[in-house]
Amino acid sequence: MSATALAPGLLAQALQRIASDMDTAFDSLLPVPNDARAKLVEAMRYATIGGGKRIRPLLLTATADIFGVDHTSAIRAAVAIESIHVYSLIHDDLPCMDNDDLRHGKPTVHKAFDEATAVLAGDALHAFAFELLADPATSGDPFTRSELVLTLGCSSGLWGMAGGQMMDIIAESESFDLPTITRLQQLKTGALLAAAVEMGAILGKIAPEGRAHLRGYARDIGLAFQIADDLLDHEGDEAVAGKALRKDADAGKQTFLSLLGPDRAKDQARMLVDQAISHLGGYGAEADVLRAVARFIVERNH
Ligand code: IPE
Ligand code: IPE
Ligand code: MG
Ligand code: MG
Ligand code: MG
Repeated sequence: MSATALAPGLLAQALQRIASDMDTAFDSLLPVPNDARAKLVEAMRYATIGGGKRIRPLLLTATADIFGVDHTSAIRAAVAIESIHVYSLIHDDLPCMDNDDLRHGKPTVHKAFDEATAVLAGDALHAFAFELLADPATSGDPFTRSELVLTLGCSSGLWGMAGGQMMDIIAESESFDLPTITRLQQLKTGALLAAAVEMGAILGKIAPEGRAHLRGYARDIGLAFQIADDLLDHEGDEAVAGKALRKDADAGKQTFLSLLGPDRAKDQARMLVDQAISHLGGYGAEADVLRAVARFIVERNH
């Protein structure tokens, strides 16, 4: 065993707490205006409140907790990264991308509202993330704010999620080798997960050279996370996942799974989780939530 035994229930409690913190924060930060923008905010609230697993917010706050960061600051930064994630899902589900009707067990935003509203809700959540990070209420230190903005910007645009999504679309019609698929997954999924950990450390005022082990952890869980998503697509239960599955193979999309097959993909994901946990060797019990998240990433069924 590469990790110490963890207190039972630690992860379940942490997941429950972050889900409730995110719901409360989105609810109070996104009041519905009494004008023609109401529909836009209703769509933003529909997508963000009562949403998914909140893995990115949990990674951010669990890292921030290691360094004793003020809870309000960490929650505001967590809302910012979740806003980017939710925007990416709203756009990913659009007919011009994955054309999905179900997300989090309910109709996708363009189904519940309409396509134009879904595009705008994604746009507005994207901008909202940076608005939150640039606000002194998130951190009184302008250098910290600017580092947060830079990190989230790099991980969500060309150098991160959006770049990875482009490669993902191309992967339906072109054949990529394993290093290219690895790069695709790192950008599409890994970059934002890594940013969550990085932003927790930034709020903790840890200098870049002090973040190396956390970066190693984040890189490994990022890859493991997308392998798990692809495995879920291949063999998961749609009712539990709350989204349509069996989409990747139908689209002829190349993934780790299509290149390695399910057994090797599972071995690879497990190896990455062990490796991720080994990067946390210098931390004690204060990093137990991060260890538990790493395991959850490959054991999850949704
Ligand atoms: C799903 O991410 C999309 C990917 C980046 C693979 P999550 O599985 O974190 O989505 P939710 O928010 O928990 O539904
Ligand atoms: C989406 O990947 C990743 C994003 C950046 C939104 P997928 O298309 O595999 O995500 P799901 O399976 O729809 O959640
Ligand atoms: Mg997609
Ligand atoms: Mg999709
Ligand atoms: Mg998927």
